[in-house]
Amino acid sequence: MQRSRISQEIQWLLGEKHHGLLTPFAKKDIAKLQKGEHVDYVIGFVDFLGCKIDLSLKPLIPRPETEYWVERAIQEMRGKGSRLQTKNYKLKTLDMFAGSGCIGVAILKHIPWAVVDFAEKDKRLLSQLRLNAKKNGIEKKRYRVLHSDMFSGIKGKYDYIFANPPYIAESRKSKVQTSVLKHEPREALFAGKDGLRVIRPFLSQAKDFLVEGGSIYLEFDSPQKKEIEKLLRRFQYQHWQFCRDQYEKWRLVVIQENPKNGGVLPAPFS
Ligand SMILES: C[S@@+](CC[C@H](N)C(=O)[O-])C[C@H]1O[C@@H](n2cnc3c(N)ncnc32)[C@H](O)[C@@H]1O
Repeated sequence: MQRSRISQEIQWLLGEKHHGLLTPFAKKDIAKLQKGEHVDYVIGFVDFLGCKIDLSLKPLIPRPETEYWVERAIQEMRGKGSRLQTKNYKLKTLDMFAGSGCIGVAILKHIPWAVVDFAEKDKRLLSQLRLNAKKNGIEKKRYRVLHSDMFSGIKGKYDYIFANPPYIAESRKSKVQTSVLKHEPREALFAGKDGLRVIRPFLSQAKDFLVEGGSIYLEFDSPQKKEIEKLLRRFQYQHWQFCRDQYEKWRLVVIQENPKNGGVLPAPFS
């Protein structure tokens, strides 16, 4: 099983990165695969909703579960944008916990009337974010890269806040693949005993950074649904909807503050 996976990955690596040729450089890459490094890091980039996301500084590898909900969020923003475009309104978006920048870059690429602030605590990843915006042809005036521990470096209010925080509970560590534990950044994955160490303060503050009628999209781990619901009540949010991912697991909550439509969530999530 393991063998056939590695041989598939070798074919993929050769095709994507080495024009199908087994050069000495390609052989070095194959050795990395055999040592357990993730094929996406060895190739150096992934596709995320049609954007090429460079991984050279080893941010978290964007996950298909994230891609799934971001695609739906884009559909919702498209609807909103067509109503607002006439007024030359820019949809102000915050990509909190930005990492590689896959979420914000996809928004910028697919929603021409959006502007994005990327917020990331790990200084090392700030150049990764700039690189990914540049590689995807995003005009500099449409985004800012902010070094920020959660909201500490954030001013102003947003129409959309997208957040894929670290959320794996330490107690679920044994369920995480060895290659993930060995090669992906810990700060991007784990968040204390129950996995809510980052989500808790995020939810306590996020509503202060939303415009009236704004929305928060927060990704989480399926066993956390009940606790998140309690937090939403504790911090007095008004309208929210939990959504499953493509594997039928609870993965996302969409929160709306003072929605003009009375809190009916948009079609892609209904
Ligand atoms: C799960 S990764 C998400 C990366 C990317 N948004 C994605 O969806 O693939 C979480 C990211 O949040 C960053 N992070 C962790 N704690 C943070 C904090 N307090 N403030 C800002 N960023 C933080 C980590 O460095 C990591 O890049």
